[in-house]
Amino acid sequence: MSPTAAWIGLGVMGYPMAGHLKSKGGVPVTVFNRTAEKAARWAGQFKDKAAPTPAEAAKGADFVFACVGNDDDLRQVTIGKDGAFQAMKKGAVFIDHTTASADVARELHAVAAAKGLGFVDAPVSGGQAGAENGVLTVMCGGEEGDFTKAAPLIAHYSRMCRLLGGPGSGQLAKMVNQICIAGLVQGLSEGINFGMKAGLDMEAVIEVISKGAAGSWQMDNRHKTMIADKFDFGFAVDWMRKDLGICLAEANNNGASLPVTALIDQFYADVQKMGGRRWDTSSLIARLRK
Ligand SMILES: NC(=O)c1ccc[n+]([C@@H]2O[C@H](COP(=O)([O-])OP(=O)(O)OC[C@H]3O[C@@H](n4cnc5c(N)ncnc54)[C@H](OP(=O)(O)O)[C@@H]3O)[C@@H](O)[C@H]2O)c1
Repeated sequence: MSPTAAWIGLGVMGYPMAGHLKSKGGVPVTVFNRTAEKAARWAGQFKDKAAPTPAEAAKGADFVFACVGNDDDLRQVTIGKDGAFQAMKKGAVFIDHTTASADVARELHAVAAAKGLGFVDAPVSGGQAGAENGVLTVMCGGEEGDFTKAAPLIAHYSRMCRLLGGPGSGQLAKMVNQICIAGLVQGLSEGINFGMKAGLDMEAVIEVISKGAAGSWQMDNRHKTMIADKFDFGFAVDWMRKDLGICLAEANNNGASLPVTALIDQFYADVQKMGGRRWDTSSLIARLRK
C-alpha cells in the first residue's frame, strides 16, 4: 500500500515540493498552510485535501513534511497548539525541510523520540528553481532507520539526498553550504562590478571565465541578472541573514572562526537598509553601486 503524507508550509519551496510528492510520487498528501487560501489552491491544483491545522493534516499520516520559516515557526507547527506531534501515529516520521538551527533539530528529535516518532532534519539547497524542477540537494540528520524510510519519498523532488550524521547534522551541513556561498557571492559581485567599471563586455567575460577555475553555480545562474541590476526573485536577503545568524551562533559554540561570513552578514544588513529585504542574495552587488 502507498504511504500517506501530510505537508505543512506551502511557501515558495514547500508548494512545488509537495506538488512533486503527489504528482510524481503518487503519494496521497494532506496539506496545511497558515494562510488557508494557499492550501485550498494547492488542493485544487493537485486534487488532494487541505486541513485547517497541522495536527489535523498529520493525523494518520505515515510521513509528515514541513517547510516553514525559522526555529519558532517550526516549534509552533510541531509542539505548539494544534501542532503535528499531538496527532502523529506511533512510528510515523517527521521530515523537516526548514533551514533552522541544529539545536532545534536536536530538541525536536528528542521530543519526537519520546513519543515514538521519527524526526529527520533535512534542509535543502537549490532554490526556487530547484524546488520547481524537483532537483534539490537535501542534507539529512537523524536515525538511519528513519532516513531509509523517508529517502524514497524525498527522491521525488531531489537529485541528491544523503544522511550526514545524527540529529542536527543536516542543519550543520546546510550551515557549511551557506558559509561557502556568502563569501563567494561577494567575490562575484566585486568581479562583475570591477569588470563593468573597466568597460568590459561582462556577458562575454563570464562566458569565458565560467569555464575555468572561477566558475560556480552563482556565476552560471546569477551573472546575467547581476549585470542587469535585477534582484526581484530568488533567495531573499532576509532568509540569508537568518541563515548567517544561525551559522554565527553555531560558530560561537564550536569555536570556528568565520570572519568573512560575519562581514558579509553586515553587508546584507546594508542591503536590507537599501530596501532589499526580499531581493535575491546576488544583490550584494547593488551595495557596490550605491
Ligand atoms: N526560497 C529559497 O530559495 C530557499 C532555498 C533553500 C532553503 N530555503 C528555506 O526554506 C524555508 C522556506 O522558505 P520559502 O522560500 O518557501 O519561504 P516562504 O515562501 O516565505 O514560505 C514560508 C512558509 O512557512 C509558513 N509559515 C511561516 N511561519 C509559520 C508559522 N509560524 N506557522 C505556520 N506556518 C508558517 C508560511 O505560511 P504563510 O503562507 O501563511 O505565510 C509559508 O507557507 C526557509 O527556512 C528558507 O530559509 C529557502
